[in-house]
Amino acid sequence: MNEKKQFRAIKGTRDITPPDSALWNWFERTARDTFESFNFREIRLPIFEETSLFARSVGGETDIVSKEMYTFADRSSSATPEGAPADPGDLISLRPEATASTMRAYIEHGMHALPGNVKLYYIGPMFRRERPQKGRYRQFYQIGAEVLGSSDAPAIDAEVIEMLMLFFQRVGLTRTTLYINSIGDKNCRPAYVELLRAELQKVKEQLGADSQRRIDTNPLRVLDSKVPHEQEIIAKLPRIADHLCDACKENYAGLKRELALRGITYEENWRLVRGLDYYTRTTFEVIAEGLGSQNAVCGGGRYDGLVELLGGQPTKGIGFAIGSDRSILSIQESGNLPQLPGLDVFVAWMGMDTYPTAVKIARSLRDAGFDVELPAEEMKFKKLLNLADRLGARYALIIGSDEVASGTFTLKRLSDADQKKLNEANLLETLRSERRGTRA
Ligand code: HAM
Repeated sequence: MNEKKQFRAIKGTRDITPPDSALWNWFERTARDTFESFNFREIRLPIFEETSLFARSVGGETDIVSKEMYTFADRSSSATPEGAPADPGDLISLRPEATASTMRAYIEHGMHALPGNVKLYYIGPMFRRERPQKGRYRQFYQIGAEVLGSSDAPAIDAEVIEMLMLFFQRVGLTRTTLYINSIGDKNCRPAYVELLRAELQKVKEQLGADSQRRIDTNPLRVLDSKVPHEQEIIAKLPRIADHLCDACKENYAGLKRELALRGITYEENWRLVRGLDYYTRTTFEVIAEGLGSQNAVCGGGRYDGLVELLGGQPTKGIGFAIGSDRSILSIQESGNLPQLPGLDVFVAWMGMDTYPTAVKIARSLRDAGFDVELPAEEMKFKKLLNLADRLGARYALIIGSDEVASGTFTLKRLSDADQKKLNEANLLETLRSERRGTRA
């Protein structure tokens, strides 16, 4: 067969190509700057972990672990002969989220001994085998932050949310709604879950198959249901806010006070239970306009006890993860895009005698921090300017024999064809002051 196979990215994955990649870099840079200003520091984590780490933390019954993980047998164990099935203990999964890995790393590196709260952030791809659609991918990207320590003061929750909302504001993601809830803790939630289960049993026949199954596996998740005909039934179910123990009630009231202190507006949503098992007390989500059904751009909450569950010291924790794909999609759809620097200078050299000067000035401009395109081959003047234009350069730096002879350059601004003859020092100064102008 002569036919050549045309390779394509695997379903649910995609390439982020220029110029979108510049937007992604700016988005991630803004997150780093914002988070670091709150004294968060980056943690770089592996992309795969033992499957049982996710099963134990996210929960074996959750959709993420039971249906969506990319899991494979690893043959790391020298006891496994070639071709023999791997021991189940050797199963490895591509990470569907990174809170579990962060906890593993926290324990593995004895970070509980560090002074104060340990504040970490991460940026990177996650993998879930979901049905791809707008805003939902099988490889998607998160920017997450986690705070670990001995305190569960509501001020910590509020500061994490403040940081998140400040970041969204800085990237122009402003048409958002922040939802908050408290889902209680191990003292009050079990009784509420039993009450909910009993109430759900009474209306079981009116529910769809998924919700019926969840009455047994995880009744809280029924509250998450988007099935239209279930909404009226769910609205009448008992609400956790009415069943919180005193400590959880006080903690939730404290969170609302702390949010008010920071001027953060929110809506309470008693149905916000989240799809991962590790949460206690505070849960929150941010949804953005213009995204259709996949409109959650961030999810998070408190997970006291998770470190202990994974074999560490008793530790309190809270964090969130922003979905970068959806957030960037929302920014693009709003049209509220930042002015990102592009190609500064296109070096339009003419005649081989000008080429050495062109190479030298390209280096000087790059050293001075400008983005420069230097054509590798000789071209006609018209073609040079045409290419400079199509590449979106702000300036063409014209170098002909006259310029070389007089030690000057002709700097042409492409937006309005304004043209100046300058020596090297004046050229750098002109470009620098122009850059300061566009940044101001
Ligand atoms: P999550 O709600 O599963 O939470 O994911 C957080 C965000 O990741 C979602 O709000 C969404 O924006 C994005 N996301 C999730 N799945 C996809 C997908 N298939 N395609 C595109 N975007 C997606 C967590 O992952 C928790 N680890 C958050 C956390 C950190 N809680 C405490 N600390």
